[in-house]
Amino acid sequence: KARTEIGGNAEAAWAALRDEAAACTRCPLYAPATQTVFGEGPVDADLVFVGEQPGDQEDLSGTPFVGPAGQVFDRALAEAGIDRDRVYVTNAVKHFKFEQRGKRRIHSKPGAGEIEACRWWIDQELMLVKPRVTVALGATAARSLFGRVVTIGKERGRAQTLPGGGEAWITVHPSFLLRLPDEDAKRMEYARFVEDLRMVRERMD
Ligand code: URA
Repeated sequence: KARTEIGGNAEAAWAALRDEAAACTRCPLYAPATQTVFGEGPVDADLVFVGEQPGDQEDLSGTPFVGPAGQVFDRALAEAGIDRDRVYVTNAVKHFKFEQRGKRRIHSKPGAGEIEACRWWIDQELMLVKPRVTVALGATAARSLFGRVVTIGKERGRAQTLPGGGEAWITVHPSFLLRLPDEDAKRMEYARFVEDLRMVRERMD
């Protein structure tokens, strides 16, 4: 995509959108969370990754994928030959949903209503960035992007078309890899994840 096609307008529109999202009250998740974690990356990126929702560290820092899942994501991207600085990374839900247990905040899965309420933001982000390819990391992202329940095992590894047009790929969420109890399974699933990312990388050539 030529930079001139976008100019400064998309950047300004994106910054305005991010500022607006900082005050979002579309669903109740904003109240206990520290802040909105908006997408990050170049507005003219060809590739967008969509995660589930910020985790504890993302909630505190205000940046997507900087915690443990983000570290797995960064490593897998690098192994697949994708430069994180050149991709736009965001989440289906922009506030951390958690349960307080003593001092710890334990991740809770966002529900259909929260995904639906937050879809407005991701639609705007995708309209501004206009990526060539969008990647759903996990079922929540896929549900947000496709507007239906998605079975990752059945739908990963091939190009899909988003309801509004545009190519999308579906793969696992990096935190799924962290949760696998067995080291062999972890290694195997990680390799499959990198392989999915490589296929995406090849679409960008
Ligand atoms: N998990 C996500 O889905 N997104 C983040 O930003 C961090 C962890």
